[in-house]
Amino acid sequence: MAGLDVSPAKAILLAVQLATKADIPTLQSLIAQHSKTLHRELVLRILLSHLPETVESLKYVSLLEDLVSGGTTEDSKYPANNHTLAEMSEIEAQKKVRKLHLLHLKWPYAPEDDPADPFVCFLVLRALRIDESTGLIAQLPGLLEPFLHHSMYLRTWMISTILPLVRLNYEYHPGIVTLLTISEFELLDDKAGVNLLLSRTGKEETKNETKSVGRDLRGLIGPWMYGDSRWKRRKLHRNSEIRKQVAMPMNDSLFANERCVGWEEVFQWVTKQAATSWKTAVEAVEQWDGPGDSDFGSYGDGVIWLDENDQQHLERRYARAAIASAYLISEESIEALNGIDRILSRIITLMDQDRTPTLQAAAALLSPVFGLGDVLSEKNALHLRNDFLSDQNILTAPNETSLRLLHALLVSTYICMKTGHKLTIRRAGELALLQNEQEQGITLSRLMMNIVNGPKEDDKYWIRVRNELLWLHSWGAEELSEGADATKGRGILGKLRQDLIETEILKTLLKNTRYSLAKSIYETGPDRPLPRKVLVETIISSAMNAYDNATNANKTRGGVKQCLDILTTFHDTLKESVDQDQLFHLVDVTHSIGRYRLVFKQGEPFKPVSLRVHGDPISIIGKVLEQNPKSYAKINDFIDMGQNMVKAGLVARSVSGHTKPLDVDQTREQESIAEKRVVSMCIDASLVEDDFETAYSYVTTRLRKIAGPAQARTPEPTDNESGLFAKVPAQAMDDWSWRAALQAGKYRRTAYTTRPTHLGNASGNPEIRHLEQRMECLAQALRLAPKATLPEIINVFRRCEEELETHVKQETEQEAAWDAQGDDQAMPGGFAATPMKNNAAAGASRAVEEAPLSLLDLSVASAARAQRSLAALSVFRSTGSDPSNHNAPPAARESNDSSRVATPDSAARNTTRKRDQLKNAAVGGLASGIGWLLNAPPVRNNEDGEDVPHGSP
Ligand SMILES: *[C@@H]1O[C@H](CO)[C@@H](O)[C@H](O)[C@H]1NC(C)=O
Ligand SMILES: *[C@@H]1O[C@H](CO)[C@@H](O)[C@H](O)[C@H]1NC(C)=O
Ligand SMILES: *[C@@H]1O[C@H](CO)[C@@H](O)[C@H](O)[C@H]1NC(C)=O
Ligand SMILES: *[C@@H]1O[C@H](CO)[C@@H](O)[C@H](O)[C@H]1NC(C)=O
Ligand SMILES: *[C@@H]1O[C@H](CO)[C@@H](O)[C@H](O)[C@H]1NC(C)=O
Repeated sequence: MAGLDVSPAKAILLAVQLATKADIPTLQSLIAQHSKTLHRELVLRILLSHLPETVESLKYVSLLEDLVSGGTTEDSKYPANNHTLAEMSEIEAQKKVRKLHLLHLKWPYAPEDDPADPFVCFLVLRALRIDESTGLIAQLPGLLEPFLHHSMYLRTWMISTILPLVRLNYEYHPGIVTLLTISEFELLDDKAGVNLLLSRTGKEETKNETKSVGRDLRGLIGPWMYGDSRWKRRKLHRNSEIRKQVAMPMNDSLFANERCVGWEEVFQWVTKQAATSWKTAVEAVEQWDGPGDSDFGSYGDGVIWLDENDQQHLERRYARAAIASAYLISEESIEALNGIDRILSRIITLMDQDRTPTLQAAAALLSPVFGLGDVLSEKNALHLRNDFLSDQNILTAPNETSLRLLHALLVSTYICMKTGHKLTIRRAGELALLQNEQEQGITLSRLMMNIVNGPKEDDKYWIRVRNELLWLHSWGAEELSEGADATKGRGILGKLRQDLIETEILKTLLKNTRYSLAKSIYETGPDRPLPRKVLVETIISSAMNAYDNATNANKTRGGVKQCLDILTTFHDTLKESVDQDQLFHLVDVTHSIGRYRLVFKQGEPFKPVSLRVHGDPISIIGKVLEQNPKSYAKINDFIDMGQNMVKAGLVARSVSGHTKPLDVDQTREQESIAEKRVVSMCIDASLVEDDFETAYSYVTTRLRKIAGPAQARTPEPTDNESGLFAKVPAQAMDDWSWRAALQAGKYRRTAYTTRPTHLGNASGNPEIRHLEQRMECLAQALRLAPKATLPEIINVFRRCEEELETHVKQETEQEAAWDAQGDDQAMPGGFAATPMKNNAAAGASRAVEEAPLSLLDLSVASAARAQRSLAALSVFRSTGSDPSNHNAPPAARESNDSSRVATPDSAARNTTRKRDQLKNAAVGGLASGIGWLLNAPPVRNNEDGEDVPHGSP
């Protein structure tokens, strides 16, 4: 076909038109026809200026290929025609051509010493224009790839600039638009570039098996770092900056470091991830082999870019960054530790070192840590804080020493974490390097807090826990060097005394009821890891803790049982220990109290610990009596409790609350006080419950035997200051007995009063009997009470007497009436005792009459004096305590266990005598001292019942 007959100017304009319309085939024909005019460079300029940037690369790559090869061919199917220009004059056409202002083929970035050829310039400029006007950079590989072999520059540019951008935006993280043109991207410095390219890395939901972190490092960073030109440029501009930024020693690695400065940003990025997104850091190390591991896609054929030195240098730096990452992971979880373990194995693989067992296995093996050299030094703790990537950092130096330390720290942290105590590798590192006793102590107590509630049945678990704790102390050092100072370890608990750790373990074993295991290790085992003294202390304090934590007082359950079990387990060790003895008694008394209902104020039920810390434990017995109706009948139980409290060391505590052991005498004395108090309490309790008979029986049997004078009655040595008298030891005073006796004496019978269960034939007037009993109680009170209270007691006594008199008179009158009726025969059994009694009653009345008014008028002072002599006299005591004495009041002969007052038949019969004795005790006693005042008959101090002044037939 004949060429289109147009002028060169029109051919150019036509080419522009076709380019603008993107009619490539026709343009191709036109070029073929006017190859002289439309020479290669002109066509490239026209294309660059007028071919729309939206046109797919595929459509004009063949045209470009033709241009490059110079073999453009006409396609008959697409003939060029010029009817659009037919009307135009040649002049006009030439004018238009001049005004075309076609773009020049000059690439601004081409290095001066090696200007790129126009075709390469075209490609680059075209790519930039496409990017700037459409952002369709996905078109660029198609445009550039066919021509890469033309130019090393083009290839470098393709790999280091286009490839990362295309991958970032279209392949790896599609959907995320990077609002950055190619030229802007090219201007980024290392840091900004790394951050941009890795901005999405590790942030998306992990798709299965994509290994995207490694892919990004390999496929984005690797290519971007490729490119001599970048390095050259960088060197030119930033040489001075480099030295400032990366503090590097002036050594061989300087050159490499400078060349590889971009990579330092990548390493920094990895270590930064460790702190903020640890999984990304772990994946980076796992999935990426380092700078040598780059993916240039299909563009990198035959590219050699890192020389041997650089390669080695970068590998060491990468290993350091990986170790640093392990230290920098701040997440506190088993998962993160497993991640660190993966990092460690990875470094070991990369460095071609001996493999380590898995973390779980290592924690089970607890192998000794060796070969640490002098890395374990306090000054190295500095390296845990900053400059992790510095060549000076001994902890991240990529060699065996640092890997061993890291592994030891990892296993230590893992052991802690397993128990629930959270820790980072860095923290573990501080513990090991600083060896600060206080910090380690805190760590130990946190560990123990977490361990404390372990499985109750699993001894293997506890053996393992112990081994682990001991390993944390020593890092297995004792296995390495025999005779080494075993008390001082090197591990994260190394500064703590081994004793302390063993003590904690023992406590925990006991808390978890692992008694036989504890015994086998600490008592019968061959090692005996604890000195005896420490062992005893620990056992006792564990027993106490168990006790104090108990909620139930029953010794077959809970804490009290635990306490008891601990004591019995270590019986051999505790032999002769005062504490053990006291604790046994404590358990006993606690158990006894547990049998009763006992609630403290605010409805809070009794807890054993309240007994142990109570300021006045014996008062608790009072509460029990209050809250348990009729419990006073079990008086012996309560006396035992009181005395056990003394034996348990609960009374006589020092201010600080520590029990100081009492000596034998003191104990006896305290037990006696306890007994008095308890008996008094029981008396009070029975009175509150209207059980006068029991109260009476306790007063006359129990109190009589044990009661002592009240405090106020101790004679005051008037001439103390002379110093002639030896110091009289302070006597134990009894402020309870007299009160109880008085209380009983004051009791008035009511309808609610419990009736004697057994009166037998004591058909006597119950009122009289009651009054007699009251007077008997009062007589006791009188003997014991402090002087200030005597008038009050005497008043009560006197009122009783008056009442008695009235009753006796009534009775006598009644009986006289009976007698008058001559109804003697009607009396059952023909009681001879009745008249006898009457006589006696009459006699008693007479006795009363003998000293009536003066008693009332008794002044306090004279009463006190009277009482002193009364104490000496103590008629009752002698009669009451002698079982052979027939005149002993009936209740005195009761069995101690009896809870009821069973009044024997004879009691009633002998009332008369008793009443007279009473008289003797109270009035007669008084009389002997102050008889002159009372005008009373002198008392014949008779202990013989037959010789009682009144009532004898
Ligand atoms: C994991 O990848 C496979 C194949 O690529 C795919 O079939 C599967 O659905 C993916 N599973 C998940 C959970 O993404
Ligand atoms: C590891 O590196 C540190 C510091 O560079 C050095 O002190 C230590 O001796 C090295 N250890 C080994 C086994 O080379
Ligand atoms: C105290 O008792 C509770 C439950 O009875 C138990 O969980 C806890 O571990 C005990 N504490 C000590 C220190 O024994
Ligand atoms: C103590 O507990 C046991 C069962 O654990 C029970 O049989 C016993 O009666 C309880 N003793 C007291 C005093 O509560
Ligand atoms: C009561 O008195 C009589 C005679 O004095 C004596 O035989 C008897 O043993 C006394 N009974 C009691 C219980 O003291």
